Amino acid sequence: MRMYDLIMKKRNGGALSEDEIAFMVKGYTNGEIPDYQMSAMMMAIYFQGMDETETLSLTMAMAKSGDMLDLSEISGVKVDKHSTGGVGDKTSLVLTPMVAALGVPVAKMSGRGLGHTGGTIDKLESFTGFSTVISEEQFKENVNRIGIAIMGQTADLAPADKKLYALRDVTATVDNMSLIASSIMSKKLAAGADAIVLDVKTGSGAFMKTQEESFGLANAMVKIGTGAGRNTVAVVSDMDQPLGFAVGNALEVKEAVATLNGEGPDDLEELCLTLGSYMVVAAKKATDVGEAREMLKKCIEDKSALRKLAEFIEAQGGDKELVYHTDRLPKASMIEEIASPAEGYVQNIVCDEIGICSLILGGGRETKESVIDLSVGLVLHKKVGDYVRQGESLATIHANDREKLNAAKQRFLNAYTINDTPVTKKPLIRGIVTR
Ligand code: URA
Repeated sequence: MRMYDLIMKKRNGGALSEDEIAFMVKGYTNGEIPDYQMSAMMMAIYFQGMDETETLSLTMAMAKSGDMLDLSEISGVKVDKHSTGGVGDKTSLVLTPMVAALGVPVAKMSGRGLGHTGGTIDKLESFTGFSTVISEEQFKENVNRIGIAIMGQTADLAPADKKLYALRDVTATVDNMSLIASSIMSKKLAAGADAIVLDVKTGSGAFMKTQEESFGLANAMVKIGTGAGRNTVAVVSDMDQPLGFAVGNALEVKEAVATLNGEGPDDLEELCLTLGSYMVVAAKKATDVGEAREMLKKCIEDKSALRKLAEFIEAQGGDKELVYHTDRLPKASMIEEIASPAEGYVQNIVCDEIGICSLILGGGRETKESVIDLSVGLVLHKKVGDYVRQGESLATIHANDREKLNAAKQRFLNAYTINDTPVTKKPLIRGIVTR
């Protein structure tokens, strides 16, 4: 087989066979196929597309390019959750203890990544002493004993995707539906869960800006998951404005804990109940999503989900008292209000920009080496459709540096549009995609 022939076949609109895709992925991962040939192939795929069978073959080849986690020592149906990412998305912090409290085993391997805030691991490090550096044995034992464990990524999951994603990033070939779907799903399949619940975000703060694109991606990923023999469901949810009110690591932890206390923002709680219902059903702990939803509501009411979070934090070396005393979480030295320059209804929030404010304050990573400031961020007081008086606070900003505070404040104000027209709020959940 020659890579040249495969590039020509795809360039001319042909479909690549499973063997051809496996040859290409293996050759690229081990360095036998050079970047310039793979770039040409990615561009050919970008223009000619891939059918369902090719997309599944590419996903499987990338998933198998490194370690495939074996979670069989953990009893029960393992359900993983993945979000395509957005601003203020602290869903995992709330959702994982909720489903674990209902007996759904949560065995998550997470990376840190780049972004407006840290990832779930960074956020969890707001609990003094908490560590995801645990052995695989400890990881499995914790899941079997308390139902939940999160481990920093030690295994080499889908290295082909890592290499290919970096190449796509510099060759203008990221935004192809089949390539995105196979990239995300290859990592999920390698992570070993039996079932996968996907949260596909849509809107100005999401990777997919339009609803049409988001449903396209959701469909493509559900087909891949199902084709790979994993029960897969996708929820398409709003990311036209931040989720909840808090954006920033410790601030998001505080909001997540409030949600487990039944005092969280409505949108965050609703999303957790929706995603959680599908996870609980996938794990066969309920027969339908209605029943699952009631069970999840109950574990908030009786505080069993909150206690599960405390148990999990303690099992991984963290100070569980912080779960009950969130005022002791990391705090910034400067806390100021951002006054509204106008009176009226909030028409629009450029969601990405709010994320960038958190990044400017030091709450996220611009490069892999950046050190995150867990204490900084923003807590919004007004969201789309809300009425605000001139001078009233739009948000509280938490910072440790005056210059950064001023820069983030200006950027924040530019992200808000306020005028006299009342606004019809968009629904949070846009749809569910199942096979
Ligand atoms: N996220 C991924 O992991 N891969 C893509 O291709 C796009 C977003």
